Amino acid sequence: MNVQGLTGARVLLGVSGGIAAYKAAELVRRLGDAGAEVRVVLTANAARFVTALTFQALSGNPVRSSLWDESAEAAMSHIELARWADEVLIAPASADCIARLAHGHADDLLTTICLASAAAVSVAPAMNQQMWAHAATQANLALLRERGVRVFGPGSGSQACGDIGAGRLLEAGAIVAELIAARGPRALAGLNFLVSAGPTYEDIDPVRFIGNRSSGRMGFAIAEAAAQQGAAVTLIAGPVALATPAGMTRVDVRSAREMRDAVLAQAARNDVFVSAAAVADFRPQIMAPQKLKKTGGALELSLVQNPDILAEVAALPQRPFLVGFAAETENVEEYARAKLERKRLDLIAANQVGAGLGFEQGDNALLLLWPGGGREQLARADKRDLARRLVARIGEQWRAAREHT
Ligand code: C5P
Repeated sequence: MNVQGLTGARVLLGVSGGIAAYKAAELVRRLGDAGAEVRVVLTANAARFVTALTFQALSGNPVRSSLWDESAEAAMSHIELARWADEVLIAPASADCIARLAHGHADDLLTTICLASAAAVSVAPAMNQQMWAHAATQANLALLRERGVRVFGPGSGSQACGDIGAGRLLEAGAIVAELIAARGPRALAGLNFLVSAGPTYEDIDPVRFIGNRSSGRMGFAIAEAAAQQGAAVTLIAGPVALATPAGMTRVDVRSAREMRDAVLAQAARNDVFVSAAAVADFRPQIMAPQKLKKTGGALELSLVQNPDILAEVAALPQRPFLVGFAAETENVEEYARAKLERKRLDLIAANQVGAGLGFEQGDNALLLLWPGGGREQLARADKRDLARRLVARIGEQWRAAREHT
């Protein structure tokens, strides 16, 4: 699979006011071509040069320009937007925008997001050459650089105002290349990840099934985090209502047996298998060909055990690095460590379920255990944050295991 330089990256593109704002439209395209998901914020002054509609059409997402837009805030608040982003890129960044960022202003949507976001911030300045050379602008940029803000460009040449000199916005392709380079080599580049997610449904008759409350969100977040770190990801999804994260191959299945077949068909060609699916342990012995009718009495269902997918992968002669999950209601660490050993896993992610934790929740807490007494507690957080940390740990353990052999 062709993994692009920004696969899975969530880029918030801030466009500030200046004639170069029109070039940001091309930038949205280029970011998308590199695999990024893009959301655009226009400053009030940018909206005088370009229209929100252009950027909405190019990014495929609503464009925000005000902190005070109630309907937009209801859909995705500025804080959610700040958390959503894993890159904030401001292009063009005007002298005024740079000054306000340097001094921590939060009086419009873009500057507020910059303060509220933990994402890396990059600016691509564009302004008149005299403004660029001004000591105030240079001091503001020095302050930003000191705080880790990346500065892309500017280029030099003839300017819209007729001057010649430094201050031209870099070309869109160059900005994307700088962003890719700044993010550095991704930790999982070259690795193949297989991830299972969601529940399985075991049919009783043509309209009824046995299922469970798994939403699939944890597995999808893991697949997304692995793709963002450069892995080639195959996601085997049970019946869930979730969109496929960018940059991966998805295989949809329904029952445990279908999931088993899909996983086994892929296992040997993957370096890592993360079994995040909540596979049904039992299925009806027979699926009734017609809808079962009420008979006035009890209905007896005979259940048989489903294959243990993880155990089957563990028994393969050439098995991938195996990561399993353990949902426990008590004695989490003790039970999970026993499962790690019994299932011969390389890593287990254990969580306490019940009482508002685990299934169907947006956040979660995980205890990671691996052979030899290794342990890492991931405190309660959004599933996407947890997934990023879990995937980072998998990468580290995978490398350690490889060095060992
Ligand atoms: O033994 P238990 O079901 O608690 O183990 C949970 C782990 O095993 C999860 O990673 C789950 O995806 C996997 N599993 C499986 N096949 C099953 C049941 C669980 O692969 N039939």
